[in-house]
Amino acid sequence: MKQWDKKYQRTADFIVVEGPEAGGHLGFAGKELADSRQVKLDFTENVRATLQMKQQYEEKYGRKIPVFVAGGIFIKEDVQEVLALGADGVQVATHFVATQECDAHEACKQAYVNAKEEDLVIMESPVGMPARAIRNPFVEQMMEGAEKITFCYKCIKGCHPGKPKYCIQLRKI
Ligand SMILES: Cc1cc2nc3c(=O)[nH]c(=O)nc-3n(C[C@H](O)[C@H](O)[C@H](O)COP(=O)(O)O)c2cc1C
Repeated sequence: MKQWDKKYQRTADFIVVEGPEAGGHLGFAGKELADSRQVKLDFTENVRATLQMKQQYEEKYGRKIPVFVAGGIFIKEDVQEVLALGADGVQVATHFVATQECDAHEACKQAYVNAKEEDLVIMESPVGMPARAIRNPFVEQMMEGAEKITFCYKCIKGCHPGKPKYCIQLRKI
């Protein structure tokens, strides 16, 4: 926000603060995730700090910048907790996947519905970040070894040929 303000005199339309309990790519170091209690406490502080930080931009640009909290928002109490901190709303992905409105394949939805807590694993994403996934034969293979990548789509900054264990473009097909 500092950069956009300085370089382009623009500010955010809204902010999403995503915590350590999210599905998919995580913006936390693997060792940070190991201490789940501490990481949750730090995240609550992070939400508070974001709510405070954005005020200067709201004042400068004369408009509200809503903050949405994401990651592990599953039940009513999770929503109430973040609203009580001062957030304007939540962003939900994992629980949305199994809904009728989501256009994922039925088999994918069913994998979400059937998953138990012990089926969730942290694997390494192609950009080297931790990623939360549902254990399946492919995930197990990638946790042990790597697939042979013969072509690079140059789709994500930070993913360098030869480094990732799998190609994210091929997994989307
Ligand atoms: C299947 C799936 C795909 C996602 N893809 C993206 C993505 O492409 N870009 C992104 O910024 N976040 C992505 N996310 C993260 C979500 O936007 C969201 O912030 C996060 O999953 C919220 O946590 P939850 O899964 O616990 O609800 C994805 C999440 C899931 C479950």
